[in-house]
Amino acid sequence: MKIAFVGKGGSGKTTLSSLFIRQLAASRVPVIAVDADINQHLGPALGLPEATAARLPAMGARLPLIKDYLRGSNPRVASPETMIKTTPPGAGSRLLRITEDNPIYEACAHPVHLGQDEPPGAAPTPTDRAGAAVRLMVTGPFTESDLGVACYHSKVGAVELCLNHLVDGRDEYVVVDMTAGSDSFASGMFTRFDATFLVAEPTRKGVAVYRQYKEYARDFGVELHVVGNKVQGPDDLAFLRAEVGEDLLVTFGHSDWVRALEKGDPPPFERLEAENLAALRALHRTADDSYERRDWPRYTRQMVHFHLKNAESWGNERTGADLAAQVDPEFTLAEDLESPVPVGQPA
Ligand SMILES: Nc1ncnc2c1ncn2[C@@H]1O[C@H](COP(=O)(O)OP(=O)(O)OP(=O)(O)O)[C@@H](O)[C@H]1O
Ligand SMILES: [Mg+2]
Repeated sequence: MKIAFVGKGGSGKTTLSSLFIRQLAASRVPVIAVDADINQHLGPALGLPEATAARLPAMGARLPLIKDYLRGSNPRVASPETMIKTTPPGAGSRLLRITEDNPIYEACAHPVHLGQDEPPGAAPTPTDRAGAAVRLMVTGPFTESDLGVACYHSKVGAVELCLNHLVDGRDEYVVVDMTAGSDSFASGMFTRFDATFLVAEPTRKGVAVYRQYKEYARDFGVELHVVGNKVQGPDDLAFLRAEVGEDLLVTFGHSDWVRALEKGDPPPFERLEAENLAALRALHRTADDSYERRDWPRYTRQMVHFHLKNAESWGNERTGADLAAQVDPEFTLAEDLESPVPVGQPA
């Protein structure tokens, strides 16, 4: 499953992403955690020392490698230079899987151990065999000058490219900590998820971001759930219910566990407050349910839609190529593709 956490700045996206990732890791399922937020804080929220987090390899800086690998032998993509963030996979492209090893993970993923170590001598679990339970990938820090221009998009673009070439299955997860800013809508990034958790504090601004997101999401069948955060009592809950109605999935209260983490001394994950643990389990169930509604042909059509849009608005001019020709009309992404095959032919 591909899951995004979005919301207003400071609403708690990183905090709830990191708690959700801990919940998944505690369930011993494979997870790739992606920090695609403007403020890169997911590493520290997962317990990495600040200095380690600051040295994480940035996907944005490894775009040439990412493009070269994903392009594979796809004849429709003439060179890595003509590959833009929305270039869809086609026959010959390389696809990514969550638990495999590949040069992209080797260059960009950092293993994170979340304090669930086996007793010495215990047999390795499937997730251990697949490497670490959690692989963390980061887009890289954004600078003021990046915002609103191509570099910013190219940083998040590395994530979009990877998501478009990913064939993920049940019980394996990609969790992306992302902004809800209008930049997410410039590309197709916001349509790449099985479920989107919009973190909202019970405030008018928190709810305004929800409305804007919902508006964009409506035409693309985006499965959007509101996750209330820092909800302090019945008034807060009533406010969120009144403003977002059925879209409200669960709420989190103030967490002393999170506060202790921020002080650099997190208690074991099992000691997270019972209500907050229950809310995390609800997110996990909702993520799992979203898998049943997955629609690979629609997913593929949407990536083509955004690619054509980006090609026309800037890509063709920037690359000097007709990027519409990169679309392989025979190709549909699907979970059982070992390597891409044209539709209608046996895999
Ligand atoms: N449920 C909670 N209980 C206690 N503290 C919380 C909770 N949720 C968030 N916080 C705190 O609120 C602050 C903002 O949270 P966080 O960094 O997760 O928000 P964000 O949406 O990722 O922000 P940004 O937009 O800056 O990336 C942090 O200091 C975090 O520890
Ligand atoms: Mg954040």
